Amino acid sequence: MIQTYRIITYGCQMNVHESEKIAGLLEQCGYVSAQDDTVADVYVLNTCCVRESAETRVLGNLGILKKLKEQNPHIKIIVCGCMTQADGAAERLQARCPFLHAILGTHNICRLPEILHDTSKTHIEITSETIIREDQPIARSSGINAWVNIMYGCNNFCSYCIVPYVRGRERSRAPERIIDDIRRLTQQGYKQITLLGQNVNSYGHDLSVPCTFADLLRRIPQIEGQFRIKFMTSHPKDILPETVSAIADSDKISKFIHMPAQAGSDRILHLMNRKYTAENYLSKIDFIREKIPNAGISGDMMVGFPTETEDDFQATLRLTSAVRYDNLYTFIYSKRKGTPAAVMEEQVPLSEKKLRIRRLIDLQAQIAEQTAKQCVGKTYNVLCSEQKSNALIGETECGKAVHLPKNTALVGQFVRARITSSKNSKLYGEII
Ligand code: SAH
Ligand code: SF4
Ligand code: F3S
Repeated sequence: MIQTYRIITYGCQMNVHESEKIAGLLEQCGYVSAQDDTVADVYVLNTCCVRESAETRVLGNLGILKKLKEQNPHIKIIVCGCMTQADGAAERLQARCPFLHAILGTHNICRLPEILHDTSKTHIEITSETIIREDQPIARSSGINAWVNIMYGCNNFCSYCIVPYVRGRERSRAPERIIDDIRRLTQQGYKQITLLGQNVNSYGHDLSVPCTFADLLRRIPQIEGQFRIKFMTSHPKDILPETVSAIADSDKISKFIHMPAQAGSDRILHLMNRKYTAENYLSKIDFIREKIPNAGISGDMMVGFPTETEDDFQATLRLTSAVRYDNLYTFIYSKRKGTPAAVMEEQVPLSEKKLRIRRLIDLQAQIAEQTAKQCVGKTYNVLCSEQKSNALIGETECGKAVHLPKNTALVGQFVRARITSSKNSKLYGEII
């Protein structure tokens, strides 16, 4: 009988892509993706622990899966991803959920095929190995958008962040490998490829033959064919003028830059170990907009970092207003055990954090509405990615989503479109 799997993914795009690798391994073992509403034979939870809320969701889901296993004792439940890699987390998980088939760390997914059929024990495999595994099978979930890791890990140790502890040190893939992947994907018909790294701007510093992110962005567009390259995330401290020029110079590179500021107060930025000031950050944004006038800029902002005062928060509001983000992801600071910020005194009360995030979201909603209005009348290169019930959804070269008239035949194609109206921050357009 055919065995089925279901993967439940939490967290960032890096994890979404990792789930495609998990699916690739399972499919190599003969498993197929389970149909909706059926009980699968294998459940994989690919977890995130960047904030407490992400962990709470995982634990909630494990409660549901426990009941499912009571009714279907043959099913196997495997937990992997960032949450398992945190200090002592695997042991805590095993004690809490003795019904798990396996707990695999962020470097141990490759062990799935070997442990899948051994039901003699709970397999706990958590290592801190740092090699890059190439040539892993990948079961991609879209025929248009693809992800390609250019690097793994993080060296920045922002004081609030658990990622460097659970993902290890930065490791860059060889440029030839990345270019081969992209060439193959474009030949298979993929139209938009997103390069992934926690800080793409530090790509290459660990390679034996030097290649910077700017070099990579110059080499990729030489691949034949019509496609678009996106990338994330850009750490403000490492974005260089030559990287901005490489983005500006190629039509194949998206003009969308996700460059989180995290806060607007220099005192808080220093405590966060971000290594820039609000003024440095703004001057980089100005430089990007000068070189790439149609750049789309998004960011992340956090409220309620330990010791954040009303004045500090006002600085975050000021920076947000000054940048005028096209899109802003807002987060309430969440204490992560093992990080320097977790032991800082004067944690901000949750009630205050909630008030601050509301004010920030309201400000950004006004900005997004205004920036959307400014797009009306302009024309863009739009990649049509998805047919929804009432519209064809596309993405402009500067990363904005556009709703176009329904037309299934255009899914996967680049079109020129004019923006005809905006509603709140949504854009509506017509093909020209
Ligand atoms: N490497 C990326 C961010 C990865 S984590 C970068 O440096 O920009 C994604 C976002 O989660 C971060 O930008 C930050 O805003 C948020 N985040 C990380 N740790 C957090 C924490 N402890 N509490 C709240 N938000 C956090
Ligand atoms: Fe976390 Fe900072 Fe690394 Fe981003 S750069 S993953 S916020 S430590
Ligand atoms: Fe991503 Fe969450 Fe891990 S944000 S890198 S899945 S901790």
